[in-house]
Amino acid sequence: MKVENLPPILVTLKNTNHHPYMQGAWTPVYGEVNAFDLEVIEGKIPDDIDGIYVRNTEIPVHEPLGRYHPFDGDGMLHMISFKQGKASYRNRFVRTRGFVAEQEAGQALWGGLADPYGTSLRPGFGAHEGLKDSSSTDVVVHAGKIVSTFYQCGEAYLLNPDTMEQEGIAGWSPLDGVSAHTKIDESTGEMLFFNYSKHAPYMHYGVVDRHGKLAHYVPIPLPGPRLPHDMAFTASYSILNDFPLHWDEQLLQRNLHAARLHPKPSRFAIIPRYGKPEDIRWFEADPTYVLHFLNAYENGDEIIMDGYFQENPTPEPLAEAPEGFAGLMAYIDEHSFRPKLHRWHFNLKTGATREYHLDDRILEFGMFNQRYAGKPYRYAYSTTTKPGWFLFKGFVKHDLHTGESWSVELEEGRYASEAPFVPRIEAKDEDDGYLVSFIIDENTQTSECILIDCKRFDDGPVARIAIPHKISSGTHSVWADRQFITDGKIS
Ligand SMILES: [Fe+2]
Repeated sequence: MKVENLPPILVTLKNTNHHPYMQGAWTPVYGEVNAFDLEVIEGKIPDDIDGIYVRNTEIPVHEPLGRYHPFDGDGMLHMISFKQGKASYRNRFVRTRGFVAEQEAGQALWGGLADPYGTSLRPGFGAHEGLKDSSSTDVVVHAGKIVSTFYQCGEAYLLNPDTMEQEGIAGWSPLDGVSAHTKIDESTGEMLFFNYSKHAPYMHYGVVDRHGKLAHYVPIPLPGPRLPHDMAFTASYSILNDFPLHWDEQLLQRNLHAARLHPKPSRFAIIPRYGKPEDIRWFEADPTYVLHFLNAYENGDEIIMDGYFQENPTPEPLAEAPEGFAGLMAYIDEHSFRPKLHRWHFNLKTGATREYHLDDRILEFGMFNQRYAGKPYRYAYSTTTKPGWFLFKGFVKHDLHTGESWSVELEEGRYASEAPFVPRIEAKDEDDGYLVSFIIDENTQTSECILIDCKRFDDGPVARIAIPHKISSGTHSVWADRQFITDGKIS
């Protein structure tokens, strides 16, 4: 393995011992490297995949102005590229306006999610209006670029998918920003997105074409400010949401950002892909909050949507948390907010909603074969987490036709990433491919990339590939075939 180290960035963070999310698998990593001819620890690098796996992490760089929340960290992207049985690796911070300003100032300039409004020394970005746009939440590939986004609605930052060079801010980024969880329809090359804000109409929805041009942008009027995190789509429709968990409007008048579960149903807005506000059909459903959806598709008069229904969206403080962290840790502990794999049926003829759990286990961060996005699909892949912690420790594959499932559990001290599905070149059917994940090994203080053959899921990793440094834990990831990167769509 040949490794090139880039010049170091300025780091002013000193004290990490006090914070549970600055240690262990969440220990920040600062080095930016290029590495070639990665070494195989076990198995062999498949020669039947060609593309990139990109995963983000959130890295605290400066001594915080207040109390650090693990989602405040600056976005760092980690990319492994596969071609003809060889693999290379690169990682980079996303050079956001905020990252650059703090590098120049030599200190933190913005407070975080857990801090009182007004902590920041400079005007904030996004829906909250007081935070730094860290571009640390989600990553996709669209129109030939890596696109990095932030959950509080920031700008879409672009990086080159070969070199990871920074290519600035997407020209289509609207004034109210773009939320994390833009959606890619690989069959058309379109990107669907939404944003939200504290001012009317509170939400917009848009489509960016496969050349990176804004093709559609319309308001989705809501009764007040909301906190959506994800959306879903079918071949013809996009599905936005209005969940009862959102900022308390009275407290918001005093700049207090307290999320409450209000006594009202969940609502879903179904709009044709290029629809206008008057085309929106609203559906009511059981109250919950959903961080992430899986897939959605049309079936006769119905739209079917799968996602993770939270049974306890406002969890009680985590009893075993270190002092001062009980609330923060509960809200990022799946075993506290209890998401379950869930299916909604929206009947476009009658306006009725039908819904039920597909599994009673605590699961989230789902992935599926993106060639089936917006279309009927059969296989879903979810993650399991360590109770009390935002740490992935295994994967579950579901056959949604038969109800069967298979699982992989990592050994003690080994933690995974969100793991997208990688179709084999010339794949014959939907699950003909691999799950790909980075692993943090706390036992050896190393990281690796693993591949699980989805046709023999229970066998565990069929390849383990060494990464040149131990990485930090993070949130989201993407797989993009090289053909999709080059052509902008896969027909
Ligand atoms: Fe997310």
